[in-house]
Amino acid sequence: MGSEAASAGWLSRSFGRAGCVHFADSERGGVVAELTHRGHRATVALFGAQVLDWTPAGQAPALWLSPLARLDTGKAVRGGIPICWPWFGPSAAAGQPAHGFVRARTWSVTQTAGDDQGVTLTLAAPILPSDPEPWSHAAHLTLTVHLADRLSLALETFNASDCPIIIGEALHTYLAVGDIAETRVTGLEGTPYLDQLTGAIETENAPLRFKAETDRIYRHADGAVTVEDRRNSRILEVEKSGSASTVIWNPWVEKAARLGDMGPDGYRRMLCVETANAGEVAVSLPPGARHMLKTALSVAPMAATV
Ligand code: BG6
Repeated sequence: MGSEAASAGWLSRSFGRAGCVHFADSERGGVVAELTHRGHRATVALFGAQVLDWTPAGQAPALWLSPLARLDTGKAVRGGIPICWPWFGPSAAAGQPAHGFVRARTWSVTQTAGDDQGVTLTLAAPILPSDPEPWSHAAHLTLTVHLADRLSLALETFNASDCPIIIGEALHTYLAVGDIAETRVTGLEGTPYLDQLTGAIETENAPLRFKAETDRIYRHADGAVTVEDRRNSRILEVEKSGSASTVIWNPWVEKAARLGDMGPDGYRRMLCVETANAGEVAVSLPPGARHMLKTALSVAPMAATV
């Protein structure tokens, strides 16, 4: 795609829809799609096909985005919903980025739609055998973002090569919370997890609360997770399919300082609940086959009795 094709003006003329889909030059340095539906709003960057903002009608923003986020540095953006693919975590090959290479690549717009039921944006990225080691296969990635009462994402992988491919992946969702110290997660009680900080397999039977750095891969967790955001008196629900594992991450004070792009107190305002296929549950996909990783996010007021 040439530079004219990627401009906000060309995209608005080709894919814009009055009242629901508009393309703009972001003050963060790249082109974004702005979606609106009945007072719900979402912003999606073409860089990384990354949802940057989701503000349900009448709510505070429900995704956290680094105040330092830029779309024009070639580096992955912290916050929103980064796409990790085709590996999760550190690369098996030296010098390659953690969480794969597609979150630092500009995707193409292929389709938009809007009606009474919601608004949809589809983005695509061709993956070539010449892409970075240890990846050397042809594949096609499609991300569909649907904004209605809920925000839904579907990441489809098509194996265009002539051999099976193995994909680690995640929709690395940075939920916005009022205060991590007043946040509680339910839905993972009694499920064993890999503690990435110690390497131990642990199980916690109580709802999850946060008092320190937390980095857990629940490798066999295919159900929904509920986040009680008490400071904002709301409940965030993360539903999913095609995902065998859930990752829970908060860097807390010291790691946030090391990361350098969390902003002051950023760790207090976010919690990652990641819809993933990580580690041993990476997806094996035969030639010509497709795999769909989906998540749906919703927000509801917290009942006074909770
Ligand atoms: C999480 C991992 O998914 O992503 C953490 O479990 C990692 O270990 C975090 O630190 C952030 O990764 P990155 O590459 O975006 O800094």
